[in-house]
Amino acid sequence: MITDSHGRYVSYIRLSVTDRCNLKCFYCRTDCAESFIDHEHILSYEEMLRLVKAAQTMQVRKLRLTGGEPFVRKDFLAFLGMLKEECPELDVRVTTNGTLLGGKIPALKHLGVQRINISLDTLNRDRFTKITGRDFHDRVMRAIEDCLHYGLTVKINAVAMKGVNDDEIGAFTRFARDYPVDVRFIEFMPIGGCSHWKREYTLPASDILDRAREEADLTPIERHADTDGPARLYSIDGGTGRLGVISALSDHFCDTCNRLRITSDGRLRTCLFSDKEYRLRPILRSPKLDDEALLRVMTRATLSKPLGYKLLEHLQGNSVCSKVMSSIGG
Ligand code: 5AD
Repeated sequence: MITDSHGRYVSYIRLSVTDRCNLKCFYCRTDCAESFIDHEHILSYEEMLRLVKAAQTMQVRKLRLTGGEPFVRKDFLAFLGMLKEECPELDVRVTTNGTLLGGKIPALKHLGVQRINISLDTLNRDRFTKITGRDFHDRVMRAIEDCLHYGLTVKINAVAMKGVNDDEIGAFTRFARDYPVDVRFIEFMPIGGCSHWKREYTLPASDILDRAREEADLTPIERHADTDGPARLYSIDGGTGRLGVISALSDHFCDTCNRLRITSDGRLRTCLFSDKEYRLRPILRSPKLDDEALLRVMTRATLSKPLGYKLLEHLQGNSVCSKVMSSIGG
């Protein structure tokens, strides 16, 4: 296990399998992000598998597959099958917008995916259409129900935005009280070249919690960075699910950050708020280079993982990094 200069080690990789998405959420994909990564630059599933296996030798235990939307990529379920077969020890999770899950949930379960994160910023159908550009709210709600029916653990990620969905904090709190799901509010982060991020949209975690407390009594749950990630979690009085806040801006969690991100074209990123990238694709595609070379770069990257909150102190304009969130994977 490699420990960086801040005493952190990496045990978790987020791998984006595609930068394409069937939604166009106004805070994620922006008008200037209309172009997608060329197909020939996207790693094949075999190349992704090779990366994951190399990461396992670095003691990576958890893999989250993200997008864009992972289910828009052809044969995504087959990739999950490859992972199950070749990396049976790995804890594989998926982050999805839930719109393409219909009929696939038993297969996911069979393929060993026990936990699924669903991005859902509103419980209101019309508002969903406004935020995402597609009238798919019903599909997502059905997917959540189906996941619960088949015994998958569901977390809902809602980006909290003032003037957009902050009037639904109470409704989401009731949702987490009534259903066995974790609802996690994420502070809107300044990511992406010409993102629509503005300070006026942001809602600090403390305000989110104040609003949620108008709806229900919340009790903090001791945080385990390994399992809870960056979320601070609360149990809800009389409830089945939990409420969480992910507060990258108002109360950073860099000291327990245990993750690396890999984009679908094989660029390793060590921090959401940094543009520094380590290009793994040329190594994967070079006949002269082997897994040792991959590991050398992954180790070097880990050792120089920055503290993101320090990068945020230099925020100018509306973003700290030039890539859109849909190509980084959240
Ligand atoms: N700030 C906070 N969260 C974001 N997401 C996408 N863009 C942003 C942003 N700018 C969320 C998605 C998804 C998760 C992986 O990241 O809604 O749930």
